[in-house]
Amino acid sequence: MKVTCIVGSARNNGSSAYLADKFIQGLEGRAEVKKYCVGDLNIGYCKGCKQCYITGECVQSDDVRKVVEDMLSSDCVFMVAPSYWAGVPGQLKTLFDRTTPYGDTNPNRILKASKPIKGVAVAVRAGTREAENTLILDSIEHYFGHLGIETVKRISILRTDSLPDLLENHAEQIDEIYLLGKSILFL
Ligand SMILES: Cc1cc2nc3c(=O)[nH]c(=O)nc-3n(C[C@H](O)[C@H](O)[C@H](O)COP(=O)(O)O)c2cc1C
Repeated sequence: MKVTCIVGSARNNGSSAYLADKFIQGLEGRAEVKKYCVGDLNIGYCKGCKQCYITGECVQSDDVRKVVEDMLSSDCVFMVAPSYWAGVPGQLKTLFDRTTPYGDTNPNRILKASKPIKGVAVAVRAGTREAENTLILDSIEHYFGHLGIETVKRISILRTDSLPDLLENHAEQIDEIYLLGKSILFL
């Protein structure tokens, strides 16, 4: 069993990273785990050249391929993103854009999932309006969909501008994510 966790934040020590670690704790060593924080990755912007529609590969060589390879060879992908201006952070959006060679809209894609993959989407934001997290969860689910990853759970966490906010006010949701890690491979 293999699980890939994507922390969709600029930073690897905030609320998103904490939630990914909770999920991993829940797995209790039952899976090989790959964890990436998009803020730590070397990912160039998509150039929009569409060469990947001809070759199935990007003209740039950086961290994207290995991250996507890990996702597509996993049994489960856990992706958590904070809201940045009511959307996913630019670093995560750049990963989405650069996944175009491997998405199902690419007629010449050479890398794709060979088995069912479960997806878990989590959104975290400072504000209180649910609709903003819905945009982020929709964005992750859209991305998952084009990679053949079935979203089995969406979790929205509001009123969280810092890790202390998360720890003080969202014990139930933290536990939910831990328990999801415990059960995900049996779902
Ligand atoms: C550049 C930037 C833009 C943000 N924009 C929003 C926003 O539009 N709405 C919101 O509710 N929170 C916004 N936030 C707050 C983050 O969503 C919040 O601090 C989140 O908990 C950060 O998650 P992290 O600790 O995983 O980085 C923004 C934070 C940053 C750094």
